[in-house]
Order: sequence, then structure tokens, then C-alpha cells
Amino acid sequence: MTDIDPGSLDRVAGALARARLVVVATGAGMSRESGIPTFRDALTGLWARLDPEELATADAFRRAPARVFGWYAWRRKVVRAAVPHAGYDAVVALERLLPQVVVVTQNVDGLHRRAGSRQVLELHGSLERFRCLDAGHPFPAEAVAEPVEDGPVDPPACARCGSPIRPGVVWFGEMLPEWEVTAAWEAAARCGVMLVVGTSGLVHPAATLPRIAREAGAMVVEVNPEPSELSSLATVVCRGSAGAVLPALVARLGGAA
Ligand code: OAD
Repeated sequence: MTDIDPGSLDRVAGALARARLVVVATGAGMSRESGIPTFRDALTGLWARLDPEELATADAFRRAPARVFGWYAWRRKVVRAAVPHAGYDAVVALERLLPQVVVVTQNVDGLHRRAGSRQVLELHGSLERFRCLDAGHPFPAEAVAEPVEDGPVDPPACARCGSPIRPGVVWFGEMLPEWEVTAAWEAAARCGVMLVVGTSGLVHPAATLPRIAREAGAMVVEVNPEPSELSSLATVVCRGSAGAVLPALVARLGGAA
């Protein structure tokens, strides 16, 4: 059940039904109801004393590879144990009900793909991808063991050049993957509706996408239980959680999530 304003849901459902392309832009809040802590929530236990901005950089990895690799290995373990919630299934249902849906996510947890979404652009990479630090040679994810407990883990070495293996995520100060960015920007400029779910709108360039959509004439819908940097830009605000609002929209479109 949801206490979201039914008028807003009807308005959004109507626009979704008319749109040729819908973009679902998601951030850390999308995964909250699957029990995945956000970037900053994640710092519990052994990691509580560490600043995430100091772990998520190439410099930090060069200085303390086992600490940074261990932190990501632990996050990957948490994510693997999580199950996509009803909001994820609702995004998959939208793909069935509408002509084209593109998911653009800042999350590195891979839950959209696991839930079954087919067009997913991962702007910040994935915890399930690895490559070597110096040459970017890919490294098989299954060759990275799950840690038994949270703590430092020595990164494996690249089989081709010996360079340490790093997580395939975007760190602070790094460029976003070019192909994904181009595709996401193009979809934002072309979509009829953009659902912006669970993002604070603070981290650029991802936070630029709703602005592009709005300027191009799309209906921008914020799905977030709290106000964010993007609230004033949104055409419609749905104050509620991803797990409540997205299934409610699908129900209005006549589908079961
Ligand atoms: P944030 O953690 O900055 O913001 C999470 C947002 O989700 C907040 O606006 C919450 O109000 C909202 N939220 C919480 N629970 C929710 C729920 N159940 N349903 C819907 N919304 C909910 O996350 P992001 O905006 O994704 O970047 O920014 C995180 C980025 O900052 C990460 O991708 C990471 C970090 O720096 C990099 O590592 C490059």
C-alpha cells in the first residue's frame, strides 16, 4: 500500500502510457529496500573509521591496495546476498508494458540486471567487474574469492602483466565509461518520461540527466521519500519509496509487477 497522492500517480501513469521512450534513472535509494546500505551507510564495523572518499580513489588503492580491495570485496558479498525488491520487478514490468525502457543507474550492485531488466546502463561500473590497474586488462569475476569476514584482502595480480587487479567501478576523479554516458545522454534527450528514483542528485555528471530530460520537454518524475536537489526540477514528485511507488505505477498501467 502507498499513501502517495493518487492524482500524481494517475498523471504519471498517463504520461508513461503515451511515451515512446522512458528512462528510469536510479541511485542508491533504489536498493535500500533490498537491504543494501548506501555508499555512506556502508561504513560500519571495521570500516567505520574510514572516509569513503578516501577509499574510492586510485590513489587510495595505490597506497593501500588490500584495504581498498577488501572493502569492495565485502560490499560485493553484501550485494550478492541481497534480493531485488518489488520496485525492481516493477521496472522489469514497465519493459513489458511500454515500447522502450532504458535504465540508467549510478549503482554498482547489478540488481537491475539480476531482476531481469535488459537495457541497463551502469554509469559507475559494477562490483562484478574487475580489471588490472595499469593496463585495464579484464579479470574474471569468478576468480575473485568472497571474503569470509570484512578486512583487508590482497588483490590478485593480472595474468598478463602482473599489475594489481582493481574493482571495475568509477572512482572519484575518474571518467565515466564513454559508451554508457553517450547512450544515457542520448536517451535523456529523447525520452517522454524520466523516472528519477532514489538519488540525492548531488553526484555529477549523473545528476545532469534529469536536467537534460526536462530541457528537452520530458516529464521528470521524482520518486523519493525525502526532498532532494532534484525536487524543484521535477514535473511531478512522488513522495514515497521505490518499492511502493513503482509497483503502484505498474498497477495503474494495468500490469502486475
Ligand atoms: P545518495 O546516497 O546520495 O542518495 C540516496 C537517495 O535515496 C536520497 O535522496 C534518499 O532520500 C533516497 N532514498 C532513500 N530510501 C529510498 C527508497 N526506499 N526509495 C527511494 N529513494 C530512497 O545516493 P546517490 O544519489 O545514488 O558515486 O549517490 C551515490 C553516489 O555517490 C554513488 O554512485 C557514489 C557516491 O559518491 C561514486 O562512487 C562515483
